[in-house]
Amino acid sequence: MTQSYEYIKSSIIDNAIGLVELNRPKVLNALNIGLMKELASALKDFDNNENIKVIILTGNAKAFAAGADISEMANEDTVSIMLKDNFSTWDSIQNIKTPIIAAVSGYALGGGLELVMTCDIIVAGENALFGQPEINLGVIPGAGGTQRLTRAIGKYRSSELILTGELINAQEMYKYGLINKVVPNELYFTTALKIAKEIAKKSRIAIRLGKEAIVKSFELSLKEGLTLERKNFYMLFSSQDQKEGMKAFMEKRKPQFVGR
Ligand code: CAA
Repeated sequence: MTQSYEYIKSSIIDNAIGLVELNRPKVLNALNIGLMKELASALKDFDNNENIKVIILTGNAKAFAAGADISEMANEDTVSIMLKDNFSTWDSIQNIKTPIIAAVSGYALGGGLELVMTCDIIVAGENALFGQPEINLGVIPGAGGTQRLTRAIGKYRSSELILTGELINAQEMYKYGLINKVVPNELYFTTALKIAKEIAKKSRIAIRLGKEAIVKSFELSLKEGLTLERKNFYMLFSSQDQKEGMKAFMEKRKPQFVGR
């Protein structure tokens, strides 16, 4: 199944991996309102598809995304931008239960980096450039940058990036701990796909409950987070996949998970 969109491409690999490619190459995949609506819709469709275990989100070799579309925001005022409530699409993206792997090449700036940070695993080509340059436009990040970047790399590095607008390369971001793997440029997508294929072998219900517990760790106290983890763990013991996974281990064979 391949659905057609104007600003993105969406397709399915191996009947288990959802792929979304941002597709506004002329403007370095600037995230306009239409693109964000399509992205939220495509991700939701994958989330509702019982065959899809993991999603890859990518751009093209030159840009993952160079940020929110500045031409759409330039003439806004406080009231008009609030009433449009464009960030509601971002809210729905952070509620996606399926893990998302960001496969990044080229620019991941502003909203582009914020979108990367809504993902669960980040793979980057060594040419990738990251930054929150909103300060150069007289504003600050508005789609999670001050919060997610700070939680990911710490207050001091995040302050430097957000307040100077400096761009840093993939190696440096890897050292900061934001990226899982930096690979030669030509391998950024295949590396993300390899990770996706590994995840796709697992139980869909366990994958989703695992993601939920990890994501909640940023919002809950340790005690609350441990309680949620334990409940999710216990809950999995009512799944067929838990029975199959443990039985297969005992029988020294590969499990056949059904996602139930
Ligand atoms: N919005 C709209 N258009 C953009 C864009 C953006 N964020 N980024 C690039 N483009 C457009 C350019 O206007 C240009 O279009 P034209 O050919 O029609 O002139 C085209 O993409 C190619 O860009 P450049 O000619 O600038 O390419 P370059 O290689 O010289 O520079 C760049 C690349 C350094 C990424 C530069 O394009 C740039 O600085 N872009 C803006 C980055 C930015 O400030 N991002 C933050 C946006 S605000 C935000 O994201 C808020 C939030 O938190 C949600």
